[in-house]
Amino acid sequence: MVTQTQFTGKDVYARTFDADEESLAAIAERLEARGKHAFFAEVIGQYMDALQLSRDEAILELGCGTGVIPRTLAKRSDVTGRITAIDISPHLVELGARLASEEGVADRIDFLVGDAHSIIEPQGRFDVVIMHTLLSHVVDPATVLREARRLLRPGGRIVVFDGDFDSLTFATDAPDGGAETDRLLGIAGRTQGCVMRQMPRLLNLNGFRLEWSRAYVAADIGRADFWHSSLSTFRTLLPKSGVISADDANAYVDTLERASANGEFFASCNLYTVIARSAG
Ligand SMILES: C[S@@+](CC[C@H](N)C(=O)[O-])C[C@H]1O[C@@H](n2cnc3c(N)ncnc32)[C@H](O)[C@@H]1O
Repeated sequence: MVTQTQFTGKDVYARTFDADEESLAAIAERLEARGKHAFFAEVIGQYMDALQLSRDEAILELGCGTGVIPRTLAKRSDVTGRITAIDISPHLVELGARLASEEGVADRIDFLVGDAHSIIEPQGRFDVVIMHTLLSHVVDPATVLREARRLLRPGGRIVVFDGDFDSLTFATDAPDGGAETDRLLGIAGRTQGCVMRQMPRLLNLNGFRLEWSRAYVAADIGRADFWHSSLSTFRTLLPKSGVISADDANAYVDTLERASANGEFFASCNLYTVIARSAG
């Protein structure tokens, strides 16, 4: 049986099950900051509108982190069913529940700890399963897709939003333009760097019919904006992952912050959403 705890790589978002408090605080900081950004509001709004929920549909988010998505859903008028939010990190789940309580939506969301490869919930319990930047961090995306299918009622739908993170680049003034630091960022920050370009095939192979898709480029040109909140977390997360020293991480982030202050910043990544229906 595949489990996330078999993970042996350096991706900090894949290791949240045994990460230390400092790493989890940095991860939570980035998840909360990007969750408040207009780009994420647009992405979530577009896939939720595309779902056209018709009744009290039960929604599950796998890999919920601090609960950005379930808390957003609980505030939408078209989401009237039960919301369940599952993450492998007990720390992030606890934080998500606390934030939901502070925002007055705790009674709408069940927060649970679990590994998306194998969830202890009965089959067919959910109408919609959302995976919002989960699959780029899991050991085996195909197993997670099959588990999502098991959890769906026949004809239920999945929403997968994720980066094609092999396209992620932070330009620098190094002679290679930042290619080497991009490579290290890839080791420290993702496990499945091209999962979204494989998604049409993965859906077919694992019992889903693709119904809707949308492509995005998250690009900050001149000044850091969407990517800005990730910079400070690199200071903690890059040395924690073991790809570079704390001094080198600080020097790297100083370079990127200086570039932003001078209007010379460039960072970009392709991201995609797909909605697919369980073929039964
Ligand atoms: C990039 S974060 C996304 C969090 C949230 N969906 C959001 O967009 O704010 C990835 C999350 O997946 C969780 N995760 C990684 N592997 C997992 C697994 N096998 N099962 C459940 N959660 C997992 C991590 O703990 C982390 O919270």
